[in-house]
Amino acid sequence: MSDRPQRNIAMELVRVTEAAAMAAARYMGTGDKEGGDRAAVEAMRLMLSTVDMDGVVVIGEGEKDKAPMLFNGERVGNGNPPAADVAVDPVEGTNLLALGRPNALSVIAIAERWSLWNPGPSLYMEKLVVDRRAKDAIDIRLSPTENLHRIAEALGRPVRELTVFVLDKPRHQALVNEIRATGARISLQTDGDVAGALLACLPNTGIDVLMGIGGTPEGVLAAVAVKAAGGGMQARRAPQSDAEYQRVIAADEEWDRILTLDDLVQSDDAFFAATGITDGPLLEGVRYYSEEITTHSLVMRVRTGTLRYIKAIHHIEKLARVSPITYAETR
Ligand code: FBP
Repeated sequence: MSDRPQRNIAMELVRVTEAAAMAAARYMGTGDKEGGDRAAVEAMRLMLSTVDMDGVVVIGEGEKDKAPMLFNGERVGNGNPPAADVAVDPVEGTNLLALGRPNALSVIAIAERWSLWNPGPSLYMEKLVVDRRAKDAIDIRLSPTENLHRIAEALGRPVRELTVFVLDKPRHQALVNEIRATGARISLQTDGDVAGALLACLPNTGIDVLMGIGGTPEGVLAAVAVKAAGGGMQARRAPQSDAEYQRVIAADEEWDRILTLDDLVQSDDAFFAATGITDGPLLEGVRYYSEEITTHSLVMRVRTGTLRYIKAIHHIEKLARVSPITYAETR
């Protein structure tokens, strides 16, 4: 990107995820998955139009579950340089939000144009994520048992003292059994493996490893954060139906090759921002008070590795005067 040293675009992107989180959080616990997603998409699209960039959405969410989405190929930003790939997940954990469960996030990543991996027709991938101390220890071709032993050694701790984040899905039964047999602890969560990857790539969060199969868009988004954190990640496409397998193999004969962090994010000019929608171990969710809404976000830049936690206080009435989006009812 031409103006790279001067500008940390993530500082602008956090306004985008804050707006999406505030718009979505009104749907917490309503059971209305689509409503929360639609509100977040609308707020994200509006705020993106103010960001100084010529962005193209390359990772839009929604194809897997036919949710409202920012479309792949959609131009975002105000059209000024730099040219950028944009990856979005306005609500990561639509079920979590609809059911008022922890770990729903609003997430965005941008990177130098053409530098984010293109999943094509691939909807699911296997992921292995650790923090920087264990990044050279992982090899997704090895068994979970072997990886856990190597990670434990790198961290200087016994395997039974590791905690592994795994999505609670029927496809993971064998993985869960194998992890249990090693003695390691498991945090089984119904959804939200971007939050899982964030916890795994940052040291001392209580989660040491993320293992298992989740969405490919979420994998690319997480990869930007893992790269910024200096952590380790490997992935491999893992089609979950015959139709997906047929599409994936037709698009790429080498569909099952290992994807490293540098395959997933091919530039250091990459930025990540996430805002908590519901509470989680890393980020507080959106909170509503009589005059204010608070948001809690994480902002990362790959080139410098800088990580910022941003707590924002938004004035409900003043916001209502300047924004077409409803973030809270005013009296
Ligand atoms: P959504 O917000 O799109 O529902 O994604 C939530 C999520 O749990 C992701 O974190 C994860 O990567 C993916 O779904 C797993 O997909 P599935 O629920 O189909 O197994």
